[in-house]
Amino acid sequence: MENPIIILPWAFERDAPPFEGNDIKFPESLARHIIKKHSKKGDKIFDPFAGLGTTLFVAEELKRIPFGIEAEGQKFEWVAGQLENWTHMICDDTACLDKYDLPKMDLVLTSPPYMPRHHKWNPLFGGDPKHAGYDKYLKRMGFIFGKISKVMKKNAPLIIQVDNLHHGKTFTPLVRDIANTLDKNFIQTNEQIVKWDNPKQDYPFTNLLYFKKK
Ligand SMILES: C[S@@+](CC[C@H](N)C(=O)[O-])C[C@H]1O[C@@H](n2cnc3c(N)ncnc32)[C@H](O)[C@@H]1O
Repeated sequence: MENPIIILPWAFERDAPPFEGNDIKFPESLARHIIKKHSKKGDKIFDPFAGLGTTLFVAEELKRIPFGIEAEGQKFEWVAGQLENWTHMICDDTACLDKYDLPKMDLVLTSPPYMPRHHKWNPLFGGDPKHAGYDKYLKRMGFIFGKISKVMKKNAPLIIQVDNLHHGKTFTPLVRDIANTLDKNFIQTNEQIVKWDNPKQDYPFTNLLYFKKK
């Protein structure tokens, strides 16, 4: 069994773009640890919420083949502009991934957009008031991961980095809630804590959820 706690460097190797800080990113050390451990050269690595492309850049550095989807045009362009495999990058809502002819992936590594449960603004619908609220966010998350499962090889690992959220007195158990949305299509195989070796005082650790496709 894998160690339930691992320690990784808290450091960002690539400058953030002028329009976005490093706040939404996980460190390259996390992507490198997972990709080395759970894939081999030539494997197809998919990040369906690509953000600033950490998974994709590290996959390319390790001679894997990156595929990514990012809904926001500015981030999409910034990432695609720096990838060798830029044609594997899609700018769209991941819920629509079956519009594209994606190959079957060997590993999915991602971190989804977060939503505190007392908020109405649902990031998976760009804040559309018709889809407001935490329940709709979780339902959509399950729907999107159902689509993601369709482009994964059987038994391929899905690894999600996610945090519980504390806002004043309100606590959002996002780690548990996201894991529960995946029940239909995935089996959870592990859960791990990543401690940062030099943490920002307010962010000492994060969580990794491991699944395999049913
Ligand atoms: C937490 S960030 C991912 C950060 C990434 N792990 C990194 O290291 O840069 C989540 C990303 O998902 C994108 N996103 C949100 N909803 C989406 C959707 N429905 N389809 C595709 N991307 C989406 C957001 O724009 C954001 O960039």
